[in-house]
Amino acid sequence: MRILLLSHSFNSLTQRLWVELRGRGHTVSLELDIADAVTEEAVALFRPDVVLAPFLKRRIPESVWSRHLCLVVHPGIVGDRGPAALDRAILRDEAAWGLTVLQAIADFDAGPVWASVGFPMRGATKSSLYRGEVTQAALAAVLQALARLPADAPAPAPQAGQWWPALPQAERAIDWATMPTAEVLRRIRCGDGHPGTADRLFEAPCHLFDAHDGAAAATRVPGGTPGELIARRGPALLRRTVDGAVWIGHVRLAALDAEGLPSLKLPATLAFAEAASTLPELPTPLDRADAADWDELHYREAGTAGARVGLLAFDFHNGAMSTRQCERLRDALRFAKARDTQVLVLLGGEDFFSNGIHLNLIEAAAQRPGDSAADESMRNIQAMDDLVLELLTTTDRLTVAALRGNAGAGGVFLALAADAVWAHEGVVLNPHYKNMGNLYGSEYWSYVLPRRVGAERARQITQGRQPLSAPQAQALGLVDEVLARDARGFEAALLQQALALAAHNARPARVAAKAARRAADEAERPLQAYRDAELAQMHRNFYGFDPSYHVARYHFVRKLPHAWTPRHLALHREGRTP
Ligand code: COA
Repeated sequence: MRILLLSHSFNSLTQRLWVELRGRGHTVSLELDIADAVTEEAVALFRPDVVLAPFLKRRIPESVWSRHLCLVVHPGIVGDRGPAALDRAILRDEAAWGLTVLQAIADFDAGPVWASVGFPMRGATKSSLYRGEVTQAALAAVLQALARLPADAPAPAPQAGQWWPALPQAERAIDWATMPTAEVLRRIRCGDGHPGTADRLFEAPCHLFDAHDGAAAATRVPGGTPGELIARRGPALLRRTVDGAVWIGHVRLAALDAEGLPSLKLPATLAFAEAASTLPELPTPLDRADAADWDELHYREAGTAGARVGLLAFDFHNGAMSTRQCERLRDALRFAKARDTQVLVLLGGEDFFSNGIHLNLIEAAAQRPGDSAADESMRNIQAMDDLVLELLTTTDRLTVAALRGNAGAGGVFLALAADAVWAHEGVVLNPHYKNMGNLYGSEYWSYVLPRRVGAERARQITQGRQPLSAPQAQALGLVDEVLARDARGFEAALLQQALALAAHNARPARVAAKAARRAADEAERPLQAYRDAELAQMHRNFYGFDPSYHVARYHFVRKLPHAWTPRHLALHREGRTP
């Protein structure tokens, strides 16, 4: 089938459909929803059998839906209509929710239903549900809908449902004096990543994101009335509720920033640096027994002596890794390496394994007197390289990168520095840097990628800029094992696999072989030489006369609308589709 994806952005859901539909042999092209005339042109050029809209913020023009079958992915159950479906489902504390594929007609979300798939809800942010359950259901529903084509099949019944408007801030508002932690968390999670929940911290109006239950920490801090800020940890501030506390990891100030632009989403302890420094720091051990005591890092062990597995999780918000986070993770890795384990598993975060250096904090550095985005970029990539080096030089045990969520750019190459890469079918990888203003990239990618896939394939992967599903990445040699259908089955499967690896009698020989290969590789070309060569290119990206990286980063962190569809995705514009 010829399928034109029409989407506001090439977001995670759109990428998943892209890789899955292409993987099933369909001819797929993408047009970003920029203007009606551009959409009309794309349809005329591509002549699709179906236009599929995974993520739209505007109506499809009548000139298109009246002449072509247009299927819209709506993250709500049959009968639910409106732009805040998932926000409202979280706020109402629905136990189960669903996703509908319906045909575009004049009214929003009112067309015939082609497919619907349900899923159980999870206590997580809107973005997390969207990248997990919603994306999984969307794929199933889209495949069901496509199976009903050709379009002359009898039209499914139109849905009659209730229209729910956008969710105003008043309905998301938190009353700290009365609301228990569970309610506060729902109110923040229903707007996380966008638009956030309007509130005030240190008297300043801001939007809240990245909230976690702080019950365990609250017991260690005496006093504080509900709503009061009582401690800090990493990026987060601890705020008392009537029955415990919540950690607030990220905020966006309502005030315009130094350049007169809307403020960036930043770690709460950075956005309120001065005020937050007066709060007591409340550290918690890396290997704490109570995993519910939230922190960005957590280490635990499983198995018996001689066949023990260490598991290191790093749940950095949005998978972005700042200089501080890279340094902390490197120290955590050193801690883990000093433990008596035979296999060390890097778990990344629940939603993302990693998305590389922290572009928001790099942008923020541009506004600090005496600092610059170029300097912070260099500090961040050096810290990232130090971290990857720590992993690459772990030669006394096997290391595994277990991708519970997607990985992008430097985050993929961090994973490739491990001996084995495991994932589940729902993971999408973007193993390239070029989309960020022709960034060359570091993280020893020029060593870890060719050693896995060879020089020619490495060139195709980095230049082609395509997202890859985990099975596609496995076929190319980037991923070693795809262990489960989705994130739910993955955690148990990866632990079982890691324990089996630790107990395997071939393990010592494997460790010896990898140490020998590392030594041979080092003799041939030292890691420092790869790093120097990569950083020389990065220096040009950061400080050179071509500002492409700075421009692309600015567009990315400011979320500026796209002006055109990248040519490597809009295949109909390159004459690259049959
Ligand atoms: N630094 C800072 N924030 C990042 C980030 C990074 N490296 N990567 C992702 N994010 C943020 C996004 O801004 C977005 O923020 P929001 O919560 O305010 O909406 C959130 O993470 C999710 O990203 P989004 O782009 O919506 O996710 P996606 O799953 O649709 O796409 C990627 C994933 C990896 C393709 C995309 O995020 C990306 O290109 N990231 C940049 C990767 C990069 O170039 N890193 C630097 C070089 S190492």
